[in-house]
Amino acid sequence: MRVNLLCLLVSLAGAVSALSTGQSNLIQLASSLGANTLVSYVQQAGLTDTLAHGGPFTIFAPSDDAFNQLPPDVLNALKQNVSLLKDVLKYHVVRGDILSSDLINDFVLPTLLPYRKIRVNMYQNNTIVMMTGSRVTAVDKMASNGIIHVIDHVMYNIPDHSILTYAASQPNLGQLVYNAIRANLQTTLQGGPFTVFAPVDSAWYDLPPNFLNTVFLSLNKSQELLEYHVVSGTYYSGGLVDGQKVPTVAGGNLTVQISGGQVLIDNAHVTHADISVTNGVIHVIDKVMVPAVLRNIT
Ligand SMILES: *[C@@H]1O[C@H](CO)[C@@H](O)[C@H](O)[C@H]1NC(C)=O
Ligand SMILES: *[C@@H]1O[C@H](CO)[C@@H](O)[C@H](O)[C@H]1NC(C)=O
Ligand SMILES: *[C@@H]1O[C@H](CO)[C@@H](O)[C@H](O)[C@H]1NC(C)=O
Ligand SMILES: *[C@@H]1O[C@H](CO)[C@@H](O)[C@H](O)[C@H]1NC(C)=O
Repeated sequence: MRVNLLCLLVSLAGAVSALSTGQSNLIQLASSLGANTLVSYVQQAGLTDTLAHGGPFTIFAPSDDAFNQLPPDVLNALKQNVSLLKDVLKYHVVRGDILSSDLINDFVLPTLLPYRKIRVNMYQNNTIVMMTGSRVTAVDKMASNGIIHVIDHVMYNIPDHSILTYAASQPNLGQLVYNAIRANLQTTLQGGPFTVFAPVDSAWYDLPPNFLNTVFLSLNKSQELLEYHVVSGTYYSGGLVDGQKVPTVAGGNLTVQISGGQVLIDNAHVTHADISVTNGVIHVIDKVMVPAVLRNIT
């Protein structure tokens, strides 16, 4: 990990002076790429001067369609709160020239918004590239002061909590937090990055009455149960394919089934996908998944 990070930093530092060779500045380039909504929001947020004349910067530029798809309440909030708009836009900008060939799966890029990072994911032999879950649709558009990559969703859910802190803030994930702490996994779950399939509270209550009592008699068994919901690496739903097997931290594989927009993990339905957290992604599911070694417990 450390060696790769160094390579990335060295290649970024080396890139800074040489790469921005386009004719127009970032704002002009964004206009010519048709990202008109972005350009107008940048203007409203008072960031035009910085992005036109400062840099070099790399902008992950949401298309006009991406802005059109925002939920109405998010769009209203952005329109009514310039400070929020500015924060969200700053989250789409990274210092330096970053080419698509510099990107590495599960690295994070610091943005102009302090302490907030974009997570890079590359799936299916690098044919799918995502930035905090938004898919990159066009790469390496060169401006005189930076580079634009176009993305298909606005990154407005800016990750600011780790896995368990996020879960603890939710009304329906308290049992997950309680059981993870009972299984002594709170330190593990601060590492990562991880993908967590998070059963809602009602899923825990649906288990046979003595199941959890038996499992929690043994630290080993309780960790096995909890870790069966955790996968190393960040898998947004857009990076999963039907029939895929994903290896859990507990050892066994989970099987992904996708049909008609529904995602099934083993036999659990994903009810809320793609919640970005600082150390990975959470998908909320409607069942507790029981690994083979624990299935004889009733
Ligand atoms: C506007 O957004 C900022 C975040 O940038 C937030 O701290 C503030 O509370 C928001 N103001 C209102 C009135 O919602
Ligand atoms: C993955 O991509 C590389 C480079 O584009 C290609 O050579 C290789 O055949 C691909 N592998 C698969 C399994 O598609
Ligand atoms: C418990 O630990 C042992 C090795 O220490 C391992 O083989 C076993 O699969 C673990 N899980 C359960 C549920 O016993
Ligand atoms: C998980 O699936 C992979 C193939 O994707 C396979 O190589 C591996 O043996 C499986 N592991 C288990 C524990 O079944």
